[in-house]
Amino acid sequence: MGSDPAEMAAAAIKMIEQGKQRSNKEYRKLAEQEPSAIRHQPSGEEGESHGLMADGRSPMASPLGFAAIDINLACPVKKISKKSRGGHWLREPEGAIEILKAVREAVPASVPVTVKMRRSFDDTEEMRQNFLYLFDAAYDLGCAWVVVHGRTVEQKYVGPSRWDPLKALVDRNPERIIMGSGDVWDVNQIFRMIAYTGLSGVSVARGCIGNPWIFRQARDLLEGREPRDPTIEEQRAVLEQHFELALAVNKNFRDPELHTAKNMRKFGIKFAAHHPQAQEVKKSFIYVKSLDDWRVALDEWYAC
Ligand SMILES: Cc1cc2nc3c(=O)[nH]c(=O)nc-3n(C[C@H](O)[C@H](O)[C@H](O)COP(=O)(O)O)c2cc1C
Repeated sequence: MGSDPAEMAAAAIKMIEQGKQRSNKEYRKLAEQEPSAIRHQPSGEEGESHGLMADGRSPMASPLGFAAIDINLACPVKKISKKSRGGHWLREPEGAIEILKAVREAVPASVPVTVKMRRSFDDTEEMRQNFLYLFDAAYDLGCAWVVVHGRTVEQKYVGPSRWDPLKALVDRNPERIIMGSGDVWDVNQIFRMIAYTGLSGVSVARGCIGNPWIFRQARDLLEGREPRDPTIEEQRAVLEQHFELALAVNKNFRDPELHTAKNMRKFGIKFAAHHPQAQEVKKSFIYVKSLDDWRVALDEWYAC
């Protein structure tokens, strides 16, 4: 997410190169150049082979860092220094198009560039037209798909995500890959949304916080099985791993463990919903201050 095409292109390059091919200073210098000069430099080991996996299922992440670059034209958080970013680009579509172009051209063709959008800035006709203009431009510029959140930017998270505009979008563009987003809280809603709208796929957001098993359940349903709830053992393993990974990400904070513990409390509370004694379990996560505290709570409630 950002405001400047050159910065966005340099950031995309840094992500796919995983910061391995240049120093931070060089990436910053890159961001000062004209977007047309910003290009990924393949390393020797990459060769020509990156792209689809051998079985053709999905883009290959390795040796590049990420399988795709997703441009955020959806975030409703307000402008910084009067500059557009995220969903605010819907009011200035030409600026967003410069970003899409700069990023798409900087990243190798084998790495899909995708876009996230809100269905409009607000409910005025002008903004609906802006949305369609930007949506069409994304595909024309070579973006692989757009994920559309069925709320307006102005709505932030208030009120429902509307499925009708998503359905209308699919009806208008049956040949395009279009994904939907908004208010998917359980696995059945994924399939209800697809059945109603005809979307190619659904992006799960808040519904997977504390419930990563929603994806396994979706696969269960696709394969004709009953969706499996997580066992206590599985819950424990994920709760422990989540803390450890968060700690690794937070390693540069002054007190990484305390910072992580405070941040993890809300996730523990979400995860507790799967436990038969949810209320008591929630309470045990509220005061954790360290990985040891976290493990004490897990030993008490998630011992197998
Ligand atoms: C904490 C949080 C962080 C998010 N970060 C991003 C983001 O980085 N990129 C993006 O495209 N959408 C982001 N979103 C929006 C979600 O992808 C999604 O469109 C939105 O939450 C609506 O879906 P939901 O109602 O199922 O949560 C974020 C949402 C939340 C709650």
